[in-house]
Amino acid sequence: MSKPLKQIHLAAHFPGVNNTTVWSDPAAGSHIEFSSFAHFARTAERAKFDFLFLAEGLRLREQGGKIYDLDVVGRPDTFTVLAALAAVTEHLGLTGTINSTFNEPYEVARQFASLDHLSAGRAAWNVVTSWDAFTGENFRRGGFLPQEERYSRAKEFLTTANELFDSWHGDEILADQATGTFLRDAGAGSFVHKGDQFDIHGQFNVPRSPQGRPVIFQAGESDEGREFAASSADAIFSRYATLDAGQAFYTDVKSRLAKYGRAPGDLLILPAASFVLGDTDEEAEEIAHQVRRQQVSGATALKHLEFVWNRDLSAYDPEGPLPDVDPLVAEEHISRGRAQVRMYRDPVAIAREWRGLAEANKWSIRDLVINTGNRQTFVGSPATVARTINDFVQADVADGFILVPHITPGGLDAFADTVVPLLQEQGVFRTEYEGTTLRGHLGLAHPDEKRSERAAS
Ligand SMILES: Cc1cc2nc3c(=O)[nH]c(=O)nc-3n(C[C@H](O)[C@H](O)[C@H](O)COP(=O)(O)O)c2cc1C
Repeated sequence: MSKPLKQIHLAAHFPGVNNTTVWSDPAAGSHIEFSSFAHFARTAERAKFDFLFLAEGLRLREQGGKIYDLDVVGRPDTFTVLAALAAVTEHLGLTGTINSTFNEPYEVARQFASLDHLSAGRAAWNVVTSWDAFTGENFRRGGFLPQEERYSRAKEFLTTANELFDSWHGDEILADQATGTFLRDAGAGSFVHKGDQFDIHGQFNVPRSPQGRPVIFQAGESDEGREFAASSADAIFSRYATLDAGQAFYTDVKSRLAKYGRAPGDLLILPAASFVLGDTDEEAEEIAHQVRRQQVSGATALKHLEFVWNRDLSAYDPEGPLPDVDPLVAEEHISRGRAQVRMYRDPVAIAREWRGLAEANKWSIRDLVINTGNRQTFVGSPATVARTINDFVQADVADGFILVPHITPGGLDAFADTVVPLLQEQGVFRTEYEGTTLRGHLGLAHPDEKRSERAAS
């Protein structure tokens, strides 16, 4: 008998600040006005997506002393946006990226428990560990955490937050019929946590929320990050959405679960994915090429090269050849506040490789950045895109995808109208929401079920 088809999970990443959004397109709108968030969320819900996803940056990134290109438009606060979206949606999960290095467990647990109540069980927390001292300057202990300690803090942060989520059991508020008053068990919410990172005790003031705990996401990719996800997360937001890289990451992370007593279905792998649709595959390829050119202007191409070269390259012509000078390898980096600094471990080798590519293909600086940068993940007619997404999920590249459109906020509309119905016809994507909570959409057990299963075994 053949294996039953996996059901696909789909989510919508609000594009906002990054080099994805093509702001020059007449259809591009605000990324900070509520109407943009509301349009995006409503489209995702109309398409029966599992959740909406917000990334986060706690400081505007800088390069060469200037705010990094698209960051000039600012970054609104995650909880405020998600709480507002809870009011205009009914089923859509609401995932917020919240840093464990610069925040405190009590406040974050309180915010997520509140969001879970307000949304009737739709909250999720993407625990990130970005540690850079530049971002830390915004907080009272700026830059206080060495990189190698950030996962110790993240782990203890999550453990502590879970203790707070679990500090109410759900039956503490008792109505006294005789007197018409409500009584609260005095022990409800009391907690004590003593550890290396946190030494706190007190009383948590938000009753147990519908999901018990928010759904936990993780987005780091180091070995420590993968272990953290395998031990403690419900889902991973990754950047591996191609066939080979996706399968390798999927296999690696899922194989780490058994030693924590967890099954493969307990941790979903959900890579970020971009897409371009056309009436035909050829038309989509043509549009995809245009979109990449719009995403990488001459100025953006130079900034990208400066990021690798770690030098001011403003005197170079982006339509001309690559610099002859080598990248500057130094402690101090030209870019501040970008977590991806580690992506280029050996800039001199990369420069050599890129010069070779540019020469062989007669590429200018801009051509090089366009051609070596991320290609859109799914390009084609709706039928091609639907088929590829399904093939990838069935081949264990992922359990689904977090889609990042290139137009804010309307870039999801065509996908909802053309690709989703095809996935539904194939029987691999829901036609209606079956449950009301995000855990339900993702097929994840409620923490209380997990606890009673453990007690029974
Ligand atoms: C796909 C992906 C998305 C991420 N999104 C964010 C984000 O929105 N905000 C943030 O502060 N860090 C973000 N990060 C950074 C990670 O959480 C983490 O801090 C960083 O990758 C370093 O951890 P690592 O060494 O385990 O990769 C992201 C990382 C990845 C791989």
